[in-house]
Amino acid sequence: MTDVVYREAQACCFGGFDYAVAPFFQLRQGHPLRVGELGQVALENNRALRTIPQVLTHHPATFSAALQELSAAGHAEVNWNLGCPYPTTAGRGRGAGLLPHADRIDAILAEVMNGAPVRLSVKMRLGYHDPDEFRAVMDVLNRYPLSEVILHARTADQMVDGVVDIARAAQALALCRHPFVFNGDIAGMDCFLDLCRQLPQTAGWMIGRAALRNPFLPALIKGMPFPEPEARREKLLKFHGMLFEGYGQWLSGDRHRMDKMGEQWDYLAQAFLDSQAIISRIRRSHSGNYEVAVRWAFDQPLV
Ligand SMILES: Cc1cc2nc3c(=O)[nH]c(=O)nc-3n(C[C@H](O)[C@H](O)[C@H](O)COP(=O)(O)O)c2cc1C
Repeated sequence: MTDVVYREAQACCFGGFDYAVAPFFQLRQGHPLRVGELGQVALENNRALRTIPQVLTHHPATFSAALQELSAAGHAEVNWNLGCPYPTTAGRGRGAGLLPHADRIDAILAEVMNGAPVRLSVKMRLGYHDPDEFRAVMDVLNRYPLSEVILHARTADQMVDGVVDIARAAQALALCRHPFVFNGDIAGMDCFLDLCRQLPQTAGWMIGRAALRNPFLPALIKGMPFPEPEARREKLLKFHGMLFEGYGQWLSGDRHRMDKMGEQWDYLAQAFLDSQAIISRIRRSHSGNYEVAVRWAFDQPLV
């Protein structure tokens, strides 16, 4: 969801984020990054919001080669994914699949960080199956000059559901010698303020789904006022226009664009009182009557 088109539109219409971490590139052993991947994070395509590329790999030589490529493309920082929970990645010892093996993480970092051309940060979970794996992993991470550690305070088994473990996040924060970024279910302003009280040493906050559901949230957190309904409607309309135009340029064919807009509407519709009615009307529309459905949607009452 948070591809280059989304990130640019979000930053232009709502703002509030300091930077974004791009969805991961799953590195292919012995292959360079794909042209499309480089395009997603290219500086000239991400002018409105600094974007840090993220890579998923357990192969040091491939990792180092990707860092060289990204450095050559002008990036100063890359994030390493140690959190992806899917069987095709974690089950094959990548992403969260590395968390039970602090020794492997150590060996990979020792090789990759030796003369790395960019700064490295890490996005991790508490563990793969065991929520205490973060302890040994943090011990290893503390030995390297990372720019930050982002913790999604769940195990990989939990995927993105179930309770976020604040108590263990506090323990991870206490152990971590790097700037520590908390992630997981920051659902709104009250929740954010509550977390600030519970994890006061936290250096930063990563917000995923709640910002998709309420794109005003990052700016609210930064102290900007919540706009009046008509101003909100205008921003949402501009945001939709930028997404529609952007996907028209980035995706090949109308079908892909309509699929993508349907996915975006699943979140965008949450800004309206009857989100379900909007989602089903948009889903039923096709390229011929999409614009009519959109005009109707933007006439509906906002939350
Ligand atoms: C569909 C989907 C795709 C995701 N892709 C990535 C990814 O590529 N890289 C990553 O670090 N996290 C990814 N995540 C995890 C989110 O970054 C985040 O850790 C998770 O959604 C919890 O935060 P939230 O409650 O604020 O959404 C993904 C989550 C979802 C739901």
